Amino acid sequence: MDALTDLGVKKMSWAWQYMPILNELHQKYKDEKPFAGCKMVVCCHLEAKTANLARLFRDTGAEVWTTGSNPLSTQDEIVAALVNHEKMVVHAKHTEDNVAFRKNLYKALELKPNLILDDGGDLSAIVHTERKDYLEGLKGISEETTTGVVRLRALERDGLLKVPVIAANNAQMKYLFDNRYGTGQSVWDGIMRTTNLTICGKVVVVAGYGWCGKGVAGKARGLGARVIVTEIDPIKALEALMDGFDVMPMDEAAPLGDIFVTVTGNIDVVSKRHFDLLKDGAVLTNAGHFDVEIAVAALEAYARNTWEAKPNIKGYRLPNGKSVFVIGSGRLVNIAAADGHPIEIMDGSFGVQYLSMLYLWKNRDKLEPKLFDTPAEIDRELAALKLKSLRKSIDTLTEEQTRYMNSW
Ligand code: NAI
Repeated sequence: MDALTDLGVKKMSWAWQYMPILNELHQKYKDEKPFAGCKMVVCCHLEAKTANLARLFRDTGAEVWTTGSNPLSTQDEIVAALVNHEKMVVHAKHTEDNVAFRKNLYKALELKPNLILDDGGDLSAIVHTERKDYLEGLKGISEETTTGVVRLRALERDGLLKVPVIAANNAQMKYLFDNRYGTGQSVWDGIMRTTNLTICGKVVVVAGYGWCGKGVAGKARGLGARVIVTEIDPIKALEALMDGFDVMPMDEAAPLGDIFVTVTGNIDVVSKRHFDLLKDGAVLTNAGHFDVEIAVAALEAYARNTWEAKPNIKGYRLPNGKSVFVIGSGRLVNIAAADGHPIEIMDGSFGVQYLSMLYLWKNRDKLEPKLFDTPAEIDRELAALKLKSLRKSIDTLTEEQTRYMNSW
């Protein structure tokens, strides 16, 4: 085995031993092979956990082709392990080149999939616009992230959605843990391992106090930072304030922050008008799905000069003489500069994905072309499985309690 493949295989088996939910699903479905006859494209951040999910789909009957959901999140050793060790088809490469990245999306669709697991909605957008021919035979899509769900909801609202879609992101076993604890921990992992700086004593500005933002802000506080939250939703802003964070507009936070994390799903959150306000040495990072939250192109155009400060960190000298730094070109910092969410977190999220895809496959030709939530039983089944794997048990309602709770 060559060194790259060997590294990928080791990473996959390290992750697999901490994925009790996927192990259990493997045990349960490996002989039955419920996905037999299903052609599937898995489009997700292609690292060890995703590779294990793709292999699980393969082992339980599907023909699986895999591609990446972000140019910088594909790990080439994982591609090597899937191709050389697992003998699976993969169209992905770690690259900064957006054109090369998109070519792989089109190549993956050549499978003519019956099911798509999408992360961010790129494949869903392609099959609903340029390549509508792929809609024939497509039985469903399961979407992994908030931004993808927002895009698919817009498609549904405009009456253009042609296949049933499960918003796997909206399952409680997904967003309560993945968006909050997963993003919370891995964003700081990415920032710390890339910069080698302290977090304690710093002023951290978190833009967006949704499920991800809550995690990022909470973990920053745990590391000893003073945290400012920026928001556009008065309820979320109030929640941040009551959680003990300072709240203010970005125009006021820009001169105060040492480290910025945008995680809104929106564009231009740190925009041109903020550049001159930033402190010398400010570090800008993004954890939202697309690289549009920090106006990197505008910064590029505005800077007097730029340089590679360290691998994955770019320096920008501003006309006012100050320098600011961007990690991972403004792409998801926890993935572009780290290994993504912790393994156990993705075990839960991918449990949701597996059972959502199974639901789509078992109910093919019966579901309307609409956006659905993951069925509540799936959420509960996965939570129970997870608790069991953690050797934790809980109380059950007595008959008397059930009667009491149901009485008026
Ligand atoms: P959410 O919808 O729960 O929260 C987003 C928050 O941003 C909302 O409270 C909204 O009011 C706020 N917001 C919108 N525009 C804003 C602006 N201009 N300034 C300040 N706040 C603004 O969404 P969630 O689940 O927290 O996801 C956020 C983004 O992170 C999405 O793009 C999602 O796809 C992505 N994501 C990234 C992950 C990662 O691993 N880095 C994991 C999961 C989601």
